[in-house]
Amino acid sequence: MRTVQVQVGKNYDILIDRNILKDSGTFIKNVFKRDNVRAAIVSDSNVAPLYSEIVINSLKSVGYETSLFVFPAGEQSKKLSTIEKMYQHFSENSLTRKDIVVALGGGVTGDMAGFAAATYLRGIDFVQIPTTLLSQVDSSVGGKTGVDTDFGKNLVGAFWQPRLVIIDINTLDTLSNRVFCDGMGEVIKYGCIKSKSLFEKLENNNIKDIIEDVIEECVSIKKDVVEADEKETTGERALLNFGHTFGHSIEKLYNFSTISHGEAISIGSCIITRASEKANLTKSGCLDRIENLLKKYNLPTTTDKSILDIANASKNDKKSVGTSIGLVLIDDIGSSFIYKIKLEDIYNFINCL
Ligand SMILES: NC(=O)c1ccc[n+]([C@@H]2O[C@H](COP(=O)([O-])OP(=O)(O)OC[C@H]3O[C@@H](n4cnc5c(N)ncnc54)[C@H](O)[C@@H]3O)[C@@H](O)[C@H]2O)c1
Ligand SMILES: [Zn+2]
Repeated sequence: MRTVQVQVGKNYDILIDRNILKDSGTFIKNVFKRDNVRAAIVSDSNVAPLYSEIVINSLKSVGYETSLFVFPAGEQSKKLSTIEKMYQHFSENSLTRKDIVVALGGGVTGDMAGFAAATYLRGIDFVQIPTTLLSQVDSSVGGKTGVDTDFGKNLVGAFWQPRLVIIDINTLDTLSNRVFCDGMGEVIKYGCIKSKSLFEKLENNNIKDIIEDVIEECVSIKKDVVEADEKETTGERALLNFGHTFGHSIEKLYNFSTISHGEAISIGSCIITRASEKANLTKSGCLDRIENLLKKYNLPTTTDKSILDIANASKNDKKSVGTSIGLVLIDDIGSSFIYKIKLEDIYNFINCL
C-alpha cells in the first residue's frame, strides 16, 4: 500500500491500494482509537448499492455502529436542502462530536459530506473514501467542502480537512468511460502545471497500466500545494485552477449540463495555452502536446461557444479581484505561473483566431 501524508492541522494519511474497501474499518479505527464510535456513511444512489455494504461490514467488524444516508446521484443534489436532510439523519442517529462522517462516493458526495461534517455540532471528524478518478486525485484531498447555490457553484462552503482518505483503485472499475475520462482532465492538469515527467508518462503509456503511480503522483502534487497554501491565500493553490477560469465560463454557458467539469477545463486549458503561446509566454509546441493528450482520453479541445461569450462569462468569476484576474499559464509543460490581467483585456488576450 502507498501512503501519502498531508501535514496541515491534524496530519492525515492518504492510503492508496487495490481492494482495500474491505479493510476500511481497520484503517479508520487506527485513526479514531476511542470506543463506541458511530459512523454515518454518506453516499449517492449509484455508489451505495455497489460499495456501502462492504464498508458498513468492515466498520461493524471493528465495533462501530453505522448508519447510511443516501441521496440521489448527481450535481443537482449538491445543495443546502440535501445538507439539511443529512443533519436530520445525523440527529436521528444521535451523532455526537466524538462520532464520524464517512463520505463514500465521488466529488459531490465528498464535498457535501465534508460540509455537513464541518458544520454539524460546529464540526465533527470525517473520512473520505473517494470512488471517482476526479475525487481520488483532486477533491478528496485538501479540505475544500461545500455546495452549489442558485447564485453560483461551490459558493457556500468551508475548509474542513478529512482525518483520513482511503483510495481503493478497484472502485474505478465500475465507472463509465465518460466519468473516468472526466477525471483525466484533472490528471493532465497536474502534469501541465507541476510535472513534465507525469505528462510524458501519460503521453507514452496506457493509463490502465500506470494508474497506481499516476494517482499517487497527482495526490502528492495536490498535497504539496495544499501544504504550501492551505486556504488559498498565498497564490500557490491558485495554480490548481489551470484551465479552470475559461472552463468555468464554458460550464456556465452550458448551464452546468451537457458538458462535464473535466471536459470544460480541457477546453479551457487549450484556450489559455493557445493565447499564452501567441503572446510568447509559453514555449511553442505546448498547445499541440496538450491537445493531443486530451484527445487520447476523449476530452474535447474546442467548443462552439464564442470567445466573446467565454471572455464575458469569466469576468464575474469568483476568483477575480476588483478589476483584474489572475490567469494560470504554463511557461512549459510542468511549470506554471500566475499572470494578472485586467478584466477588459481578457477578450483580446484569448481571441487568437
Ligand atoms: N473539493 C474540491 O477541492 C473539489 C475539486 C474538484 C471538484 N470538486 C467537486 O467535485 C464534484 C465532481 O466530482 P465527481 O466527478 O466525482 O462527481 P460525482 O460525485 O457526481 O460522480 C460522478 C458520477 O459517478 C458516479 N460514481 C461515483 N463513483 C462511482 C463508481 N465507483 N462506480 C460507478 N459510478 C460511480 C456518481 O454516482 C455520479 O453519477 C463537483 O461538484 C466539483 O465541484 C471539488
Ligand atoms: Zn477542477
